[in-house]
Amino acid sequence: MENIIECKNIFKSFKMGKLEVEVLKNITLNIKKGEFVSVMGPSGSGKSTLLYLLGGLDVPTSGSIKINDKELSIMKDKEQSILRRRDLGFVFQFYNLIPNLNVEENILLPILLDGENVKNYETDLDEILEIVGLKERRKFTPKELSGGQQQRVAIARALINDPDIILADEPTGNLDSKTGDEILELFKKINELKNKTIVQVTHSVDAAQYGSRVIHVKDGKITES
Ligand SMILES: Nc1ncnc2c1ncn2[C@@H]1O[C@H](COP(=O)(O)OP(=O)(O)OP(=O)(O)O)[C@@H](O)[C@H]1O
Ligand SMILES: [Mg+2]
Repeated sequence: MENIIECKNIFKSFKMGKLEVEVLKNITLNIKKGEFVSVMGPSGSGKSTLLYLLGGLDVPTSGSIKINDKELSIMKDKEQSILRRRDLGFVFQFYNLIPNLNVEENILLPILLDGENVKNYETDLDEILEIVGLKERRKFTPKELSGGQQQRVAIARALINDPDIILADEPTGNLDSKTGDEILELFKKINELKNKTIVQVTHSVDAAQYGSRVIHVKDGKITES
């Protein structure tokens, strides 16, 4: 199977005043198309930083990252933002929904931002609403939804562009364990049904079990994968 994500010798440091803090230290990692990978590790070990680099939301200090065989560092800003919007879907711990938009509008937001006609996405929207189980709530706003339902909207939004990869930073971190399990079942369904590659960061051993591989990060290094 081909690698959809390839990271080679990634270093990442942040400048804090005069101090330079090295957060990722020589990470090399390959993820194959269709894998469901869980990234675990102590708080502050660099998990979110790694996920953001994989998604092109931040850049490494050195090292190479390839998504779908495309080297991020040599891409122009515009190409990168197109890649982020079309090939990648992001899901965060606190859902990041727009409060005054309803479910449908939140899901279609990436399409609007892309300057495309939402009318062309009606069938996709219906299919995705069915998958995430929110057909009856399409006109609800986020405050009228439970946390689990809001996360389903965020997952639907991540799916609307039919990306190859979904990156999720502690997607169940804000949910009770039963609701969290339902969300993880949904990720599993999306992984199996739609052959999406999923990378989730999690603190929970139980949540990590939903994936097909666990990568352990400690102090900016991969200790086990
Ligand atoms: N933008 C930034 N500027 C400076 N330091 C940062 C920045 N982002 C992250 N860091 C530092 O990098 C380290 C790793 O942070 P990161 O958010 O990747 O950890 P994490 O493993 O996701 O932790 P948690 O489980 O608590 O979310 C931390 O020490 C943090 O302070
Ligand atoms: Mg984090």
